[in-house]
Amino acid sequence: MSKQSLIKKLGIKYPIIQSPMAGVSTIEMSSSITNKGGLGSIPLSTINFIRQDSIRKLNDIIDKYKSQLNDTQRVNIVNLNFFCHDIVSGPNTKQTENWKNLYNTTINSQDNFEVKELINDIEFQNGNVSFKEFEQNKDQFQILLDYLVSINPKIISFHFGIPLKQTIEFLQKHEIMIFITATSLAEVIKLLEYGIDGIILQGSEAGGHRGNFLSSDYQDEYLTTKALFLKTKEYFKTRSIEKIPYLVPSGGIMNTDTINWYLNQGADAVQLGTIFLSTPESTTSTFFNNYNPLESDTIMTNLISGKNARCINTKFITTLTNNYYEKQENLPGYGYSYYGYKKLKTQIDPALEDIGFYLCGLNHFQIKQGKTTNEIMDELIKDLKY
Ligand SMILES: Cc1cc2nc3c(=O)[nH]c(=O)nc-3n(C[C@H](O)[C@H](O)[C@H](O)COP(=O)(O)O)c2cc1C
Repeated sequence: MSKQSLIKKLGIKYPIIQSPMAGVSTIEMSSSITNKGGLGSIPLSTINFIRQDSIRKLNDIIDKYKSQLNDTQRVNIVNLNFFCHDIVSGPNTKQTENWKNLYNTTINSQDNFEVKELINDIEFQNGNVSFKEFEQNKDQFQILLDYLVSINPKIISFHFGIPLKQTIEFLQKHEIMIFITATSLAEVIKLLEYGIDGIILQGSEAGGHRGNFLSSDYQDEYLTTKALFLKTKEYFKTRSIEKIPYLVPSGGIMNTDTINWYLNQGADAVQLGTIFLSTPESTTSTFFNNYNPLESDTIMTNLISGKNARCINTKFITTLTNNYYEKQENLPGYGYSYYGYKKLKTQIDPALEDIGFYLCGLNHFQIKQGKTTNEIMDELIKDLKY
C-alpha cells in the first residue's frame, strides 16, 4: 500500500517547509509560511529545557504563533526543532587559552581595538544544551514531553543527532511525526534503525549548521543536496526497507524549478532557509538587504560555534580562519565556543566594524532583496507542480 502524501498528512497545501533557523527565523516568518499553505518551523535549540521556566518560555512562543495564524485552530501545523548533539564537556585550560588568543589576535589585527580585557573576562558556559541532556533529566523531561503532546505538533525535528528510541516512540504514539537531518547515506541508513517518519537530506550547499552526526568535519564527504538525494533514492530502490521515511531535500533550493525537479524525482517536500534571509521576518534582514551578493562568498567553518556551519565569509571570518590555520590549536567544543563568541559580540558591538556570523547557504546570490516572506512564498508556489 502506498503511503499517504506528506502534505495530506501535514494538512498543508504546498510541500514547502521553512527551515527552522535558530536566532534568525521569527514567529512572524513561521506563521506567514503556515498561513500561505506551507509548513512553518520553530527552532527551540536556544532554550535550556533543564530550567524550570523553560516550559513557560515555550508556551509563550506557541501562544504567539497561534495568535498570528489565520486559523488559530491550526496551531499544531508546525515543526518544532531541537538540537540533539552529543554532550560536550567544558573546555580545559589550554582550549580556553587558545580561544582567547585566537579571538584577541583576530580582533586586534582587524580593528585595532583593545578587547583583551573583555576576552579575558569570559568564563565559558554551555550556550546550547543538547536534547540528549534533557533526556537525562527525567522529571523535567517528562514535563517537556507532556507539554509537546498537548500541542501535538505535526512534526518534531532533530538536528545533529538522534534522540533515544523510547523518546521517538513515545512521540510517535501520540501522532507526532519525527524528522531527523542526515548529511550522508551512512546517516540515512542509521536513521532507518529508528523507524522515524522523515529525513531532512541536508546537502553541503545548505546555510547554517551542518547536521552531520556520524562523520567528523574532516572526514565529511560534503555531498551536495542532489547527490545525497539521488544516492538515498538509489539505496531505497535496491534494498527492502520496512518503513520508507518521507524524504525532504534541503540546501541551496532557491526557486520553483528546483523544487519541481525534486518533487518530480520523488521528494515528499523541500526545506528552504536562505531564501527567506532578506525578508523583514528574518533577524538578519538588514545585512542581507545591504550586502553585495556578487562580492560575497560563503565558507564552511567550525571556528565560531565549534561545529561546522556555512556562513558569509566576512573580513572577520577570513581573518579568524587565517589566524587559526597558522597554529591550528585545539578550541572549546560546540556550545562553549559559541557561548564565548556570543558573549564577546554582545559586549563589543557596535564598537567594532563587524564581527557578525551570518549563516547563509551557497546559493545566497539568488536571494531576492526587499521581498517579504509572503511575497517569496507567492513566487515559489505560483508554478509549483506537485
Ligand atoms: C540562518 C540559518 C539558521 C539555521 N538554523 C537551523 C536550526 O536551528 N535548526 C535546523 O535544523 N537547521 C537549521 N538550519 C539549516 C536548515 O535547516 C537547512 O538545512 C538549510 O536552511 C537549507 O539550506 P538553504 O539555507 O540553502 O535553503 C539553519 C539554516 C540557516 C540558513
